[in-house]
Amino acid sequence: MSAPAPRQPPKGTRDFYPPEMAVRRHIEKAWRESSIDHGFDEIDGPTFEHLALYTVKSGDGIINELFSFRRAGGEDDYALRPEFTPTLARMVAARASSLPQPIKWFAIPTHFRAERPQRGRLREFIQWNVDLIGVEGPQAEVDVLSTAVVAMERLGLSHSDVRVKLSHRGVVAAALHALGAQTERLADAFALLDRRDKMEPSEFDARALAIGLGASATTRLAMIARTQLSIESSADTIAGALGCSPTDAQPLVELNQRLISAGLGHWCDLDFGIVRGLAYYTGSVFEVHEASGAERAIAGGGRYDKLIESFGGPSMPAVGFGMGDVVIGLLLRDRGKLPSDDDLTLLPRPDVFLVSAGSPEAEQLLPQLAASMRRAGLHVRHTYKTTRNVGKLLSEAVKCRARHALILGGELEQGMIAWKDLGAGTQSLIPVGEVVARILAVPR
Ligand code: HAM
Repeated sequence: MSAPAPRQPPKGTRDFYPPEMAVRRHIEKAWRESSIDHGFDEIDGPTFEHLALYTVKSGDGIINELFSFRRAGGEDDYALRPEFTPTLARMVAARASSLPQPIKWFAIPTHFRAERPQRGRLREFIQWNVDLIGVEGPQAEVDVLSTAVVAMERLGLSHSDVRVKLSHRGVVAAALHALGAQTERLADAFALLDRRDKMEPSEFDARALAIGLGASATTRLAMIARTQLSIESSADTIAGALGCSPTDAQPLVELNQRLISAGLGHWCDLDFGIVRGLAYYTGSVFEVHEASGAERAIAGGGRYDKLIESFGGPSMPAVGFGMGDVVIGLLLRDRGKLPSDDDLTLLPRPDVFLVSAGSPEAEQLLPQLAASMRRAGLHVRHTYKTTRNVGKLLSEAVKCRARHALILGGELEQGMIAWKDLGAGTQSLIPVGEVVARILAVPR
């Protein structure tokens, strides 16, 4: 006998029943609208890609988390997409000469990572990506970060709920150089900094030593990772804290000044512990975190000026970020920014709820009326039950938050329908032939 069919979805994946789907659409709506308002166009790519797309540039962190597979009888290796940036780089590289520039794209795809499922981390999640390609200066960072901030504001979060934490790989590289790290080992030094919380101090020291850092440099390295400064900090302050020169700190200071002038300064802090696990970042790096530091990162991104070239395209500067739906969903729930499970306010609100009191005329009219109202652009629901207890059926109309209820009852004999404006609490009789126009005339 075969095993019973599983009732639970695979570990680390989710079922979206209507209330969960409504929350997902609510978050996606804020993402989509902020992207469009900032001038980004929506794109998407395939759910799976050639495995090599990820083994080339994403870094070990992602490669170890791939769901990879080979078609039965096939010879090509594929992987479910763990992130969107390689797909985007491939798409840009393939049409770089014909795409209007700068390229401003956003996407809201599903991603898959074979991580150990835990709070804030799943194996299947939605990730909003916002990327700006073709702009070298810090205005590109300002545009993508503003897009993230506006979306979070529209979801009801403020700068006291979440913080944008900024660092800069160029500035940290200068500090690492000053500590004795060899240029060819910089990528290893970043990877070490990124994984510092996942290893014992002795292992951290041993690895730092292997990169060319002595014992005292290792202590400094750990200190750099703990350095947090105000976004208003001068080049001298940053240089003093990191042990690099003020000239090295200048690109970060320029970015900070732009963010302040764009009115985003009060959302941002400098945090040199932000390194980013992905190997392709070349300049600014940033993450969005819950203000007290609880939870995993809400979003992460940065500048990746060499990636498109490495996919066979021209040399093009690029910056962007990804924001997952899982952590922001937890945060919105914790801060009371989402309705409770039995509250249906995020579900689409019907314009009209049709109730039939059960006569043969009513039963015949109901589908015709529903069809003509839907053709007129109204959101119409109706009961499938027939009972003379109209009050009970009306409670369904109230539960789904319909604006109007139309009761096909005894008045039909006079060619009239009882109309309840559920918002205004008024009731009147209207001729059947006028129903659609009368409902359309009430502002939504
Ligand atoms: P990432 O830091 O790997 O960056 O992911 C960005 C965000 O996606 C994270 O901050 C988190 O909210 C969410 N996320 C990642 N993994 C999971 C997971 N297993 N479960 C739930 N949420 C998750 C990137 O992916 C870059 N490609 C972002 C980027 C776009 N950089 C430039 N453009």
